[in-house]
Amino acid sequence: MLIQCGAAPLTLAIIYMLASFRFPVDYLTVAVTQGLLAAALSWKFGLASWWRAIQLLFPLAVLATLALHLPSWLFLSLFLILLGLYWSTFRTQVPYYPSNPAVWRAVLAQLPAPGGQSLRLIDIGSGLGGFVLHLARARPDAACEGIELAPLPWLYSWLRARLAGAGTRNRARFRLGDYEKLDFARYDLVFAYLSPAAMAGLWRKAAAEMRPGSMLISYEFAIHARAPDRTIHATQGGLPLYIWYF
Ligand SMILES: C[S@@+](CC[C@H](N)C(=O)[O-])C[C@H]1O[C@@H](n2cnc3c(N)ncnc32)[C@H](O)[C@@H]1O
Repeated sequence: MLIQCGAAPLTLAIIYMLASFRFPVDYLTVAVTQGLLAAALSWKFGLASWWRAIQLLFPLAVLATLALHLPSWLFLSLFLILLGLYWSTFRTQVPYYPSNPAVWRAVLAQLPAPGGQSLRLIDIGSGLGGFVLHLARARPDAACEGIELAPLPWLYSWLRARLAGAGTRNRARFRLGDYEKLDFARYDLVFAYLSPAAMAGLWRKAAAEMRPGSMLISYEFAIHARAPDRTIHATQGGLPLYIWYF
């Protein structure tokens, strides 16, 4: 957004020059100029290469959308929904995308059989809450938690837990917050489906805090600093689940 704002005065200057040389200028010329300048600035500031395509196409997309004459409340509503869903993604580099029931079953299979001490399980970045609710239904002996930074998915998962049967409701807990502020020593299983950008920090925290006998499981993303103790696949040819035992 800052790059688009930064490109705007340059675009205005170029359009002004073109117009003063009697070059025919229309909105398409403005959008193409703005897109090219924004893409060049993305390259200059070292953003990932796919940003160049986004910056180039953004002004053209704005132009095309304006031609649809959509009501303005629609833009505000969509913006608020996306804000609630993605919230701090610009900082964490971990957007929302869900895991699936096959993964949940594979994680469940790694837990010790019921009958021993009562387990405490957590999904850090619990999204819409599907995994935590699945755990709470499958393991009535366990306390299952999810922590989520983005308010909209957290609200959705909290409501799902409220509307679940009494047993599940009492064992599944969702909190709004940052997992970095949690004490991992309280859990027997920490499940993470994050992103490559989060893994180094996650390992530092897990190594410092997790208790002997506990387990860290990461779906899809490995930790470069430490090879997993086990790697399993929920489905044949599916993405890996990495397991570290403490
Ligand atoms: C890839 S999604 C995984 C969702 C869910 N665990 C699943 O398996 O379906 C990652 C989630 O982590 C959340 N998240 C990212 N950083 C976080 C943080 N520091 N604390 C809590 N949640 C975080 C994101 O908002 C996003 O909803």
